[in-house]
Amino acid sequence: MNMELEFLGMELKSPFIIGSGPISYNAEGVIRAHKAGAGAVVTKTLRDNAAKNPYPHISEAGSSTLINAEKWTDLEPETWINEEIPKINKNAKDLNLIVSLGHTIPEVKNWVEKIENAGVDAIEIVSYMENSIIEMVEIAKKRVDVPIILKVSPNWTDPVNTAVKAVEAGADAVTVMDSVGPVLRIDIDTAQPLVAGENGMGWMTGKGIRPIAQAIIAKLAQKVVVPIIGLGGVIKAEDAIEILMAGSTAVGVCTTLLTHGVDHLHKLNDETEQLAQKLGYQNISEISGSALVNLPSEENKEKFTFEFLKYECIDCQRCVEVCPYQARELKNMNMKLDEERCRYCGLCASVCPTDALNIV
Ligand SMILES: Cc1cc2nc3c(=O)[nH]c(=O)nc-3n(C[C@H](O)[C@H](O)[C@H](O)COP(=O)(O)O)c2cc1C
Repeated sequence: MNMELEFLGMELKSPFIIGSGPISYNAEGVIRAHKAGAGAVVTKTLRDNAAKNPYPHISEAGSSTLINAEKWTDLEPETWINEEIPKINKNAKDLNLIVSLGHTIPEVKNWVEKIENAGVDAIEIVSYMENSIIEMVEIAKKRVDVPIILKVSPNWTDPVNTAVKAVEAGADAVTVMDSVGPVLRIDIDTAQPLVAGENGMGWMTGKGIRPIAQAIIAKLAQKVVVPIIGLGGVIKAEDAIEILMAGSTAVGVCTTLLTHGVDHLHKLNDETEQLAQKLGYQNISEISGSALVNLPSEENKEKFTFEFLKYECIDCQRCVEVCPYQARELKNMNMKLDEERCRYCGLCASVCPTDALNIV
């Protein structure tokens, strides 16, 4: 299984790209991620001024899930341009560096050329405001030669069509997606919000957001031909394969390296390689978008049949328990289905731990 990937003219040794966030807080963080096996690293977002974050601003909020009220980089843009980027280029010559730049039109005008001149492989443009993003991409494309990546926010009103328009405006690739929010979590022992953003609000990342990212990726992949970085909720190898199947070209990671440590990337690389091989793939591009042909353009209106493999059944009774219509009975390994009661929702087969009960 070949894990190498050609992405926007960069040779990635792995399909994993570190998303903009705390891991890439400065040159040291960027180089550390590179050494842990990242194919490319996206820096924390540069803006006109260094961010001042509320305290505290990152909290675990469930398994492999975070809520954060962290802003952009807490370094001045001049520090990145004059110190951090040169340090990265000097100390990690084969590192693929993508600099994140946000969040307004004037900020793109102020910094995009200076970032390119500092020596980067691509620039990712990000904005909270859907109505500025296309012009930001257009301006960046006019002013620099390095590839421009658009970062999609799930919080925009129409992320897919906005991304399509940004690609028409020249974006060379799309990252899907930013954090989801605003969200609120409260510590019930203290009645305090988990993070100290405005009104206690923050942004959710990790495990639970991947299906949202995958829906956007699948729709987008059917409308544009540019590469997509699938970023959002990839925690383990299975997630990486799934987000690729939905139409991603490369796989972004942020939360999983915060909750498991940066060296988790070694495991993620190895396990993704092994799993892809087991599934019969020889390279990453074969996996990309492989599920798109199976996404029906219309709802399926035909009932299916169930297949019950007695020898695989462990009599756990899950299929019986979950049926809201009380249509199933499993006694002495004899499965009965009341077809009058059954609505063919499929839940029973989906919870079977051994695939003894299947939808045909
Ligand atoms: C603490 C934290 C800080 C982040 N900061 C930025 C940022 O400065 N710029 C940006 O574009 N995305 C930022 N992100 C969003 C991530 O790049 C990514 O889009 C999001 O976390 C979804 O991926 P994940 O589920 O793998 O974490 C941040 C995420 C986290 C968790």
